[in-house]
Amino acid sequence: MISPSQTDNLASLAHLDLEKEIVALKREMNAVILAHYYQESEIQDLADFVGDSLQLSQQAAATQADVIVFAGVLFMAETAKILNPTKLVLLPDLKAGCSLADGCPAELFKTFCARYPDHLVISYINCSAEVKALSDIICTSSNAEKIIRQIPISKPILFAPDQHLGRYLIKKTGRELRLWPGSCMVHELFSEKSLVQLRQRHPQALVLAHPECTEAILRHADYIGSTTGILNYATHSPATEFIVATESGILHQMKKTCPDKIFISAPGEGGCSCSECPHMKLNTMEKLYLCMRDRKPEITVEEGLRQRALQPIIRMLEMS
Ligand code: 13P
Ligand code: SF4
Repeated sequence: MISPSQTDNLASLAHLDLEKEIVALKREMNAVILAHYYQESEIQDLADFVGDSLQLSQQAAATQADVIVFAGVLFMAETAKILNPTKLVLLPDLKAGCSLADGCPAELFKTFCARYPDHLVISYINCSAEVKALSDIICTSSNAEKIIRQIPISKPILFAPDQHLGRYLIKKTGRELRLWPGSCMVHELFSEKSLVQLRQRHPQALVLAHPECTEAILRHADYIGSTTGILNYATHSPATEFIVATESGILHQMKKTCPDKIFISAPGEGGCSCSECPHMKLNTMEKLYLCMRDRKPEITVEEGLRQRALQPIIRMLEMS
């Protein structure tokens, strides 16, 4: 919902060249704009760096900028703040959450972990700072397998919050993982039946899927990986046609990198193309400009919580 004051604010921006204004503010503030592949294409084109969750946290850890503008969702901006307590971290829309993070409340997660006190807790980065603080190691889709393979076989593992990524990792590593039953509202909606029908119409196309997809989709995939993994695979593959089972924002970089190849979004139920993350798409050029102009909304993390959440993130960066 846009409030009347927001409407006024947005209307007053109509005459501005937002791209020019954002570039000027960036210089003035010594800011870096980090964007995820699921952001709208204009934001991706303006960002200093576009990447997957691991790359974005590595960039946040290494930046010399005074201000980090995070064009992504709350858990990503929070991770940047946890790594950079003295920097100003801005998120264009504070309501940009994530169904995985929202589906794993810290209090319930604490109770769940207490039932398995001997388990090592590995949490996907798509979770709140509070859940990170309850975890031993954080991972992303691009390093989860590598991290799990470094854990002694005798150590039982609890994996949260994405059950689909968890099941994929069980299959890949042969480890038994105790899973929290969370899922991504975007990746869960791809339909196996529609995918099979689409593939019949495009017999040459390879299927590239994110491991947040259900097992029913992953079993049809020619490649499974993070957003960066999917982009790199399409870039280096001799194939020229791809069905992409992840959020449709990635198609922008895929088309830019491989203008001669064909990319088709994997379909949802009834063939609908519903692969947009409503959280990621809350960020707009207008809100990006306003958050830089007004230096808000600012991400804050209470210092005790930050220190506890930092340890498992550092472990991830060391093990990646
Ligand atoms: P990656 O970009 O790390 O693959 O994550 C995908 C995602 O769903 C982020 O919310
Ligand atoms: Fe969360 Fe899924 Fe959106 Fe990524 S695409 S931010 S996992 S809801």
